[in-house]
Amino acid sequence: ATGDAAAGETVFSKCKACHSIVDASGEAIVKGGRNGPNLYGLYTRQAGTEEEFGNKYGDSLVEAGEAGLTWDEATFVAYVADPRKFLQETLDDRKARSKMSFKLGDEADAKNVWAYLVSVGPE
Ligand code: HEM
Repeated sequence: ATGDAAAGETVFSKCKACHSIVDASGEAIVKGGRNGPNLYGLYTRQAGTEEEFGNKYGDSLVEAGEAGLTWDEATFVAYVADPRKFLQETLDDRKARSKMSFKLGDEADAKNVWAYLVSVGPE
């Protein structure tokens, strides 16, 4: 990751309203909201597959995951900048929709959040 994890931890306060970070043992690294999926280990999984969030995912994100979308710095930065636009482009479908309406347009902030998520594990 090219970002600054410490700066990303601060930016993550914007995500906390909807996202927690809970490790595999169930320990909360960040106790946040549950309107969005747990972001622990995001970079190890296919989009739209966090088990507890399950059927609360929107169809478009699940479809993108099934089509091969995984999270890395580039896909993450593009997604958080505009989730709906990202899904529409990824699926080549103007009707694609996102259940995340929040946008993080600042690319440096997004890279820092990515670095933060990577820094909290898993290895
Ligand atoms: C989904 C990141 C802020 C609600 C996601 C996903 C990522 C993400 C990477 C996809 C997860 C996956 O595939 O399992 C972030 C970051 C945020 C942020 C980095 C802050 C910069 C928010 C906020 C809300 C929110 C503030 C609520 C107001 C959601 C929801 C989904 C989601 C509901 C599921 C989307 C769907 O099923 O279409 N978020 N998020 N997020 N996020 Fe966020």
